[in-house]
Amino acid sequence: MRSSNKLKISMAATAAASLIAVTGCAANTPAGSSSGAGTNKLEITSWWTSGSEADALNVLIDGVKKASPGLSVDNAAVSGGGGSNARQALAARLQAGSPPDTWQVHPAGQLKSYVDGGQAADLTALWTEGNWASQMPKDVAEAQQVNGKYYTVPIGVHRGNVLWTNPSVLAKANVTIDPAAGVDGLISSLKRVQASGVTPVCLGDKDIFASAELLESLIMSRAGADNWKKLFTNQYSFDAPEVKQALEDYKTILSLANKDHSAITWDEAAKKMTNGACAVNLMGDWAYGELLNAGKKPGTDFAWVVFPGKEDIFDYVGDGFSIPANNIPHADAAKAWLKTLMDPKIQTAFAAKKGSIPALSTADVSGLSPYQQSAAKSFKSAAVVSSLAHAQAAPAEFAQTYADAVSTFNGSGNVAAFTASMTQAQKSQLK
Ligand code: GAL
Repeated sequence: MRSSNKLKISMAATAAASLIAVTGCAANTPAGSSSGAGTNKLEITSWWTSGSEADALNVLIDGVKKASPGLSVDNAAVSGGGGSNARQALAARLQAGSPPDTWQVHPAGQLKSYVDGGQAADLTALWTEGNWASQMPKDVAEAQQVNGKYYTVPIGVHRGNVLWTNPSVLAKANVTIDPAAGVDGLISSLKRVQASGVTPVCLGDKDIFASAELLESLIMSRAGADNWKKLFTNQYSFDAPEVKQALEDYKTILSLANKDHSAITWDEAAKKMTNGACAVNLMGDWAYGELLNAGKKPGTDFAWVVFPGKEDIFDYVGDGFSIPANNIPHADAAKAWLKTLMDPKIQTAFAAKKGSIPALSTADVSGLSPYQQSAAKSFKSAAVVSSLAHAQAAPAEFAQTYADAVSTFNGSGNVAAFTASMTQAQKSQLK
């Protein structure tokens, strides 16, 4: 899998480089004026390649094809959960002036990096024309903006801090996980699972976002939603006692996880849990879509609790798509794509496969699963915060520093080194 990713990345970079060689330069054509390179095409990049992700993406592709008869769609997804491979490939193409027609992006922090780089097109006129902001929660609409203008279109809302559980493994160990018992309660339950002879935790952090998300869930639980938000405005420190406690908890949880965690992917870890190899798996609710896709029965093969902590926190991971500010190959098709994403029926059909909830409040959730209905309720009542593991809480550069610090910490377990690099990054990158 890894070598094929590399191949795709280097192919993208080579294709982009040869385009420059042919044209001599990467001339900038503003968005809205098609370059004429065939009007009935649409190239989409994303990192949706697992079973459920690919099925959900196909709902969108079928939708845009229906809306634009004769359109041919090139699904240029690059594998690697959390998208770091896909974003590398995209960066090479943007740099070379050879972008796809549209790309997957997280709102807020990650989006801002593309806007600051002059790479994402201003979509404010489309938003106004479609009156889109009035059709979704205010927080969701605001996350799609940078400096008051819209640069992306949201397709769904995921929750990052869910603990998926194996009911029969827990029952055999005579353990229940009570979210209200907080992180201390969770750790003592996991130790009881260990005493029953089963590995307590399944983790698959071949792509580092999985452990970055586990650590952020612990920090949120220990520090609370308000302090979590303050980390990104420099009003609360990564050096705080609660963060240090979360790092100690994280080490404990890592010691209770499968030893091969860095060799397996997020979806493999979730399936391993439902197959009885362990009791719990922390993962965003794209795992819900993936487990359904694998034929697993909610409530029987797997269950869930919100990640234990002292309050109900919803770790918001948004998915959406932007289009290039320059050199867009098929502007009309890209606009048709964005409009398709804003169709409430498409949002509901996508959510059913993906495990997310629709971004549009006008989309019908009554036919979605009980899990998704509870997520939709919680999104209204819980303290909603943004994910750092998915570069939403802060710009991409800071999120990368965090991902690197988590990778290093996985090997060293050095709390002081982790807090030192993060407090330094807070000062230099979050001004
Ligand atoms: C996230 C994305 C989800 C899911 C996950 C694993 O970044 O928001 O939709 O695809 O990565 O790949």
